[in-house]
Amino acid sequence: MFENVKEIPGDALLALMVAFKNDPNPNKIDLGVGVYKDDTGLTPVLNVVKKAEAFLLENEVSKGYIGATGSPELGPLLQKLMLGDNHPLITESRIATAQTPGGTGALRVAGDLINAVNPAARIWVSDPTWSNHFHVFAGAGVEVRTYPYYDADQNGLAIDAMLEAIRQIPQGDVILLHASCHNPTGIDPTAEQWDQISTLVAERSLVPLIDCAYQGFGEGLEEDVYGLRTLLSQCPEALITTSCSKNFGLYNERIGALSLVTEKAEHCQRAFTQVANCIRANYSNPPAHGAAIVTTILSDHALRQQWEQELADMRQRIQRMRNELVSSLQSLNCNRDFTFIAQQKGMFSYSGLSKEEVLYLRAHFGIYAVESGRINIAGINDQNIGLLSEAIHQAIQQ
Ligand code: LMR
Repeated sequence: MFENVKEIPGDALLALMVAFKNDPNPNKIDLGVGVYKDDTGLTPVLNVVKKAEAFLLENEVSKGYIGATGSPELGPLLQKLMLGDNHPLITESRIATAQTPGGTGALRVAGDLINAVNPAARIWVSDPTWSNHFHVFAGAGVEVRTYPYYDADQNGLAIDAMLEAIRQIPQGDVILLHASCHNPTGIDPTAEQWDQISTLVAERSLVPLIDCAYQGFGEGLEEDVYGLRTLLSQCPEALITTSCSKNFGLYNERIGALSLVTEKAEHCQRAFTQVANCIRANYSNPPAHGAAIVTTILSDHALRQQWEQELADMRQRIQRMRNELVSSLQSLNCNRDFTFIAQQKGMFSYSGLSKEEVLYLRAHFGIYAVESGRINIAGINDQNIGLLSEAIHQAIQQ
């Protein structure tokens, strides 16, 4: 069976992680994979997570299976986090949520669900998007197409081209939109642009699949779901994939969720049986620990307050590093304008660095970024920003 199997290249982002790890350079800088790092370069366990885990250690009574759609407490808590209390979708029972192994697990279940209920539907993703979107949906047997998103000349959103492309998407297809902190560009639509996008998506009878992986990392927990709420106010059906990896720092616990929004409550109950079926056929039921942590935090007032503060600290540190990188490059009199980096949102920045410049940074300074020019701003800290700025200054002069 395996003797003639062809070797295939590994995932480029994961390979970058390994290359960084193996680099002996003591001054190396990791701006690759999207994990938060504090000012010492560590991806910390949040203090509030430690508290929740201590509580669970004392109080957990069973390690029994939790069922295909996971923790029944988690779904309503995540719905409220995204929509606010008493949202009509909640009070009218038009939303149902299944716990999944991370945001990626949610995306895969969404792909399986689309393939099960409407195999003709295609998924339209932004160009560029998170590279794994293509693999995940292809794995689920759903055809993936792209719509324009990035305006390289302006380092901004190509809103006109995007809207024009959405006008051409066939009715009933699925359109994936990043709720906030667009990965990889860091460029989010403004509120006005979200209004335009939502109106058009509804007019075209498209089903939005909202990838909500960074709530709280952009401008705030509420601000980061403006687009999500606007889309849901106009579109009768939707899918939402949530990740708790970044905003709870629970990367390796694999905790996320898939929410299904339908026009009527009875559609929701029926369609949710298909979600459960996709999960059962895929991994049977999700791991419990991450969901227990998130549930413990979100259902306790004091823990929730502490979490919001720790999340704000992460967000503010990233914004500070954005501003400092821009100032630091300006003080070196770089012959390129990087001011747009301070306007982008979340962990990532499409820095405008070319593939050659990225490879120069890697070869000469042990600075690891994605070849597209995406940098993880959270990898910058007070100790490495001087070296990084100097290195970028040199790279763009080559
Ligand atoms: C990233 O884009 O770096 C993150 O979402 C991590 C991953 O799994 O790719």
